[in-house]
This record gives sequence, structure tokens and C-alpha cells, in this order.
Amino acid sequence: MVDAAVTSSSSPFTRKDVLLSMRGMRAGFTTDDGFVRAVDGVSFDVQRGEVLAIVGESGSGKSVTAMSILGLQPTLEIAEGEILWKGTDLLTMSEDDRRAVRGKEIAMIFQDPLTALNPVHTVGRQIGEMARIHEGLDKKQARERAVEMLDLVGIPEPRKRADMYPHEFSGGMRQRAMIAMAITCKPDLLIADEPTTALDVTVQAQVLEVLVDIKDEIDSAIILITHDLGVVAGLANRVLVMYAGRSIEVGTTDEIFYETRHPYTLGLLASLPRLDDAGDEALVPIVGSPPSLIRKPSGCAFHPRCRFARVPGNCQTDDPALRLVAGDAHMAACHYAEELSGVTVESLRSMIDFEAEAARIDDTLPAEPLEPEDESEYEAALRDVAIAEAAAHPGVMDRGVRDRGGRDGSEWPAQPEDPRDGEVAP
Ligand SMILES: Nc1ncnc2c1ncn2[C@@H]1O[C@H](COP(=O)(O)OP(=O)(O)O)[C@@H](O)[C@H]1O
Ligand code: SF4
Ligand SMILES: [Mg+2]
Repeated sequence: MVDAAVTSSSSPFTRKDVLLSMRGMRAGFTTDDGFVRAVDGVSFDVQRGEVLAIVGESGSGKSVTAMSILGLQPTLEIAEGEILWKGTDLLTMSEDDRRAVRGKEIAMIFQDPLTALNPVHTVGRQIGEMARIHEGLDKKQARERAVEMLDLVGIPEPRKRADMYPHEFSGGMRQRAMIAMAITCKPDLLIADEPTTALDVTVQAQVLEVLVDIKDEIDSAIILITHDLGVVAGLANRVLVMYAGRSIEVGTTDEIFYETRHPYTLGLLASLPRLDDAGDEALVPIVGSPPSLIRKPSGCAFHPRCRFARVPGNCQTDDPALRLVAGDAHMAACHYAEELSGVTVESLRSMIDFEAEAARIDDTLPAEPLEPEDESEYEAALRDVAIAEAAAHPGVMDRGVRDRGGRDGSEWPAQPEDPRDGEVAP
């Protein structure tokens, strides 16, 4: 079953502004335990100027969805679907054409800038390298571009900072440098996968603000991926909530927060501390863990954890399709979405018997460990991420290795023997 296309038809966007359109994507990985259905029928559009947030617990398929756009996972098997970039399917494009789109038109910002930045090159050089590769700038022009980009992301004394190495930057500054690198060629779409998870809350907010300001500056769109629904409020125009590889609710940010129509989304909201809480409001966790993507529960994949499930009943037997439930583009995949219209986070909290809840958690936890069961699978997944990061920054990583013998580097400062021996900036 292919979900209906998830498109916001509301103004000011019109069809011609659609940059990316993922349609009926199904993709996964073959493992010793079986096929991991990581993306299981996901459709959405991204329009110029908007921030689309993709939200869900860890393991719900957010990163795989994002990486499939860039074609960065060599072992990902695409079973069905298309990913239209300005009308052309990225999945059938030649690798050369796709490489040209990657980095220049679509850029990605990763969670951990230390693994994505090359320790042996200055930050400025790595930023400038993107412009050299994609726009053919010479070294001097590339350096100027790097300084301009560092300035744009709010790094003080950008000219001085351009000559520093990644280890001399603080976590927040490194993340800003990653953003600078991603925006160097003024991409139409920025994909930020958990871009601030490693940062403390205040710095998170600053970095996200920079990201959104820049979107306006360079007139692009952003896909912001996060497990924390809390960070998208005030930033995203629309939110797509994923569960077990599916999109289960999509709407404007206001619809998702104030007219929630899926019990899972409501669960995510109820587990968040509220800014106006006096401190005595109990947070309501979603009981249990996300399911194995190899053996998903029957019917609605969320039913073993759902407070509203009718079991026995169709929650256990019928997989709910993503369908229009309110407004002109608010969609949810729940048989009882309409009945949720009166339920708020507050009413959910007030109806919960927390002692019964503790017993329910014991009943709900799966007897078997969740996949991947094997350490080597984690290692393989980490390796894939490293390969993906290298591929997302073509040139920088490859040349970094090739260049270790040293280019002349006229405008660029000499590389230290081992930059990690240098002093670490506060
Ligand atoms: N290279 C891989 N090989 C096998 N399984 C993978 C690989 N990468 C991701 N997965 C699996 O795909 C599912 C979705 O992962 P992911 O998209 O990373 O989740 P999220 O980003 O939402 O936390 C998970 O079950 C994960 O274990
Ligand atoms: S379909 Fe049933 S189990 Fe699934 S979210 Fe809706 S009420 Fe819960
Ligand atoms: Mg992820």
C-alpha cells in the first residue's frame, strides 16, 4: 500500500515550489535475521522556503529516509518508490548527475561534526573546498568564501577562525562550521540529521536559529530530523512523525502540537516537559520500545504500546492507511484518529493511573531483545555512517587522505604534524 502523497496545499506554496517529492518509498537492509524494513511506504513533499521536521524515536527510519535521498547507503535496497528532485527521479539518475546534485543542490549536516570534519585541514580550507569542487573557485576565492560563510553562521572573528583546526573549535562552533560547509554552495535543500543532539540545550537553540536564519538568507528548504519533538516547535512549518518506518502523522506544526490525531504523536508530546509546567506535572512515557523492523506487530504496528488500541479488534488485524483526517492536509494513520480530536496532553495525563502503568510496562516489554542482536551489526551500521559522511563531502575527505603528504598550500596555513596535539580551545 502506498500512502497518499503528503503535500501541503495551503498557500503561500504552490506546486511549482516543490523541490523534493518522495513517493511510496520502501527500502531496507538484508541481514542474517531477515529483511529490515527501515522505510516502509513513506511519501512527502518539501517546498522551497519551508522547514519540514521528521520526528520519531530512535530506530524509526528517519536517517535511512534522509540518506536514501542522497544515495549514501551502499547496502540499502530500494524496493519501491521514487524520489523526485525538481521533477527528476534521483533513483534513476546517473551516479555522476547524482553526485553533482549532492553537496551543491542538496547538502547534509550530520550529528557529529568531529567525524565529518577532517582533523588535518583547517576549518576554512574544508569549507572552501566545497566551493572549489562544485564551483571551480581558485584557492584565494575559496578562502574568501569560507570566511564569508563562517561569518554568516555567526562565528566571531571568521578570518582568524578560518585558519584554525576542528579540534580548536568548541562543539557548538564545530556544528556551525558544519552548517557553513553545507551552505557554501547555497544548496536548495539542507538535510540536518539530529544536528544539535550532541550539544547542550542553549547551544542547541542557537545553532537551530542559525540554521533557520540561513534558510531565509539563501532561500532554501530544510529537512530537520530529530527524535525530540520539543526542538521543532517554533522552527518547523510542517512535521512528519515516523513510527516503525512509516509516516504516521503529518501536518502543520500547529496541527501536530494542538490538534494531534495519532496516539503515538500524543505520546511523544505527553513525554515532553512543558515550558509552562509548574514542575509537578507527571511526564507520561510511551510504554515499551519501538518494534523490530524485521518482525513488525500485526495490524497497526503501534498497537502493543497504544493507550487507545482496541484489542482484540481491528487495531490488531488491520494496518491503518495514512489518510486525511482534518483540514486540507492533516493526515494520520490511525483507525480512530477522529476520536482523538477531544484528547489533549492534559486530559491524557489526568486519565493515567501511574501504578497500573508500572505494571503495564512490565507486561509490554518484549521478551526477546530488539534487533540488531549482534554487536557486529552496530559496527557495520557505524561503518556505513562513516562511508556516508565521506561520500557527502566529496573531495574533502578523499583529498584529505591524498594530501597528507602536503600540497604547497600558499594561502592555507601549514598543517601541524598532529593537530590533535595542539591546545584545545575552551
Ligand atoms: N546499514 C544498516 N544495516 C542494517 N540495518 C540498518 C542499517 N542502517 C540502519 N538500519 C536499521 O534501520 C532502522 C532505521 O534506522 P534509522 O533510520 O537509523 O533510525 P533513526 O534515524 O530513526 O533512529 C533501524 O532498525 C536500524 O537498525
Ligand atoms: S490504529 Fe489503533 S493501535 Fe493504532 S494508533 Fe490507532 S488506536 Fe492505536
Ligand atoms: Mg538517525
